[in-house]
Order: sequence, then C-alpha cells, then structure tokens
Amino acid sequence: MVNQRAGILGTGHSYPEGILTNAELAQLVETSDEWITTRTGIKQRRKAAPGEYTSMFAVRAARQAIERARLDPSDIDLLICATVTPDQILPSTGCIVQAELGANNAAAMDVVAACSGFLYGVSLADSMIRTGQVRHAVVVGAEILTQYVDYTDRQTCVLFGDGAGAAVLGPVDSSRGILASKIKSDGRYEEQLFSPGGGTRRKPTAETLAAGDHFFKMKGNELFKVAVRSMAEISREVLEKAGRKSDEIDLFIPHQANQRITEAVADRLNVGLEKVYSNIAVHGNTSSASIPIALDECVEAGRIKEGDLVLMASFGGGVTWGAVLMQW
Ligand code: ACO
Repeated sequence: MVNQRAGILGTGHSYPEGILTNAELAQLVETSDEWITTRTGIKQRRKAAPGEYTSMFAVRAARQAIERARLDPSDIDLLICATVTPDQILPSTGCIVQAELGANNAAAMDVVAACSGFLYGVSLADSMIRTGQVRHAVVVGAEILTQYVDYTDRQTCVLFGDGAGAAVLGPVDSSRGILASKIKSDGRYEEQLFSPGGGTRRKPTAETLAAGDHFFKMKGNELFKVAVRSMAEISREVLEKAGRKSDEIDLFIPHQANQRITEAVADRLNVGLEKVYSNIAVHGNTSSASIPIALDECVEAGRIKEGDLVLMASFGGGVTWGAVLMQW
C-alpha cells in the first residue's frame, strides 16, 4: 500500500458582499447587540443577496485555492463539496462546481456533515492521496445558511452567515502535511440541529413551507455542551495518534460556532487563546465554510509559518465531529 503524505498546497475563500448586523437583527426579533455579542461573540455575518447561490462562492474559493497551489483545474482528480445548503438536490453541488471550474478530470461529490463537512472532506481526500488513488484534491466548504434561517427564531437567526472556503490537497514530503485525522458522528442526536422538510420523509409542499419545516431548528443549549466535550476529546485523540502534545500546537482553528465554545475547548486542551484563531465576530457560524475561511485568512495574514503545528476541530449537526492535525 502506498503511504504518501498529503498536505495543503493552496487555500482560498469567498463570501457575499451583503452584511447583516446585530442592530438589524434586533429590529426583526427580540434581541440586542449586547446579548448576541456576550453570548456568542458575533457582531455581524455575511448574507447572500437574492439570486446568489452556494456554488457561486464555492467556485470562487476553489479557483483561488487551485491558483495558489499553482495547478490547473484539469490537474484535480477529486472535488469534494461540503455543504448542507446545496444549489439543488440533483446534481451534487460538487458536480456544478466541477463544471464551472473546468475540473473535467475530477470525480466530484458532496459531503453532508454540517459544520464538520470540511474536515470530513479533508480526511477523505487525505486517505485517497495516501493510498495513491488520487493525486490532487479540492475540498470546498460552502453555505448559504441565511436562506434556511427562520428570522422569527431569535435563538438560531443570530448565529448563521454565508460564505465558502477551499483547500487543495496533494502529495508532500514526509517532513510536513497531515499527521492525523479523525471523523465521527452520532445520528441519535439528529433533533439537536435539523431541518425536517424538503426530503422524502417530509416532502416539500405548501403545508411544509407554511409550517417552517425547511428552516433549521436547534436545541442550542444541549448542543453547546456536546460540542465542547466532543471537540476537546477528538482533538486529544488526533494529538495522541500523531504522538504530539497540546503544548506543541502553534495554531488552533476551531469551527466558529460560538466564541464561548471556542474558549471552553481551548481551555480543556490547555491551548492559550493567543494560539486560537477566531473570526466569529465578522462571519458568525458559516457551518462547513467556517474552518476553510479561517484557514485562508490565517494564510493571508501570515499567521501560519512553515513547520507550524496546526490543529483544526469541528462539531455540527448530525451530530458530526472531527479533527485534523497537520504540520504546515
Ligand atoms: N437574544 C436574546 N435572548 C435570547 C436569544 C437572543 N438572540 N436567544 C436565546 N435567548 C434567551 C433564551 O430564550 C433564554 O431565555 P429564558 O432564560 O428566558 O428562557 C436565554 O436567552 C438563555 O438561553 P440559552 O439557550 O440558555 O442561551 P445560551 O447561552 O445557551 O446561548 C446559543 C444560546 C447561542 C444558541 C448557544 O446555546 C449556542 O451557541 N449553542 C451551540 C450552537 C452550535 O454549536 N450549533 C452546532 C453547530 S451549527 C451547525 O452544525 C450548522
């Protein structure tokens, strides 16, 4: 069996121009900038305009990542689009992105793992590169969550934003790259975060639309506790798998769900907040796009240096969770 180390060769991100502020939300539901800021860390989020859809941002992010990896779209063998807000049911948003990019040699697919989708994609791409099945993979996380948010539900509508982030993975020498990854799920917690309408179980009708069955419904308080516990546990597992210690981490990029979740996970891992990246104040929770947007922002800002030990961890609806440890 080939055991080729995989690493990230390029990153990119893209988001809509529209901004939705806490002050604007306070005009829609009974909330305040003070509540949202202190309970979540969010000040604003990006919101797609009518006519903007998920693959538009996915394509821009993926194209940037491919250019920065100094590759051509035809070099891509695998394209994974992580999303819970696809353009349409058929074909996959991955196939739509593939066609737009001209990545005609790729196998394209969607991964549905909510906020863990990007790390699920990275973990799958890593395995396929390691075993020699593919050479270059694009993993893109892209969401237009604001279309699935109920702007009468103050618990969920303050959290979510739109955007896309992407990474190109390919073979690297054994001094760097992905050291360990792990993904997990537990479908018994389905109803902690779900959108019941629109599929075969509750097909789309005027009735399901009127009942708001297509919107995200969440038990935020319960999710909070499971998220902290699961992200900390799986982070420890990948550190152990790679034989590394949490005090060696140079940069921790958690899924941006809530600033209090981020700080609680960092605390459990004993990682100082100066090593933790947070952009939740400006993006809110962009689900599968949150980690790749954050990663690309770190690259652009020069916050990741060659040789840095980088930990990424996520938790999302399903429930799903995952972690990836890499040497940059
Ligand atoms: N403004 C003002 N008050 C609010 C708001 C709001 N926007 N939302 C809730 N409240 C109220 C509640 O009604 C409640 O009032 P009550 O005490 O009178 O009943 C009070 O605030 C406290 O509510 P909690 O739910 O306990 O508030 P909490 O501090 O837990 O914050 C939040 C809620 C922000 C949703 C938090 O629980 C959270 O971030 N949960 C995790 C979300 C998450 O990680 N999701 C998974 C990933 S997302 C994905 O997969 C797509």
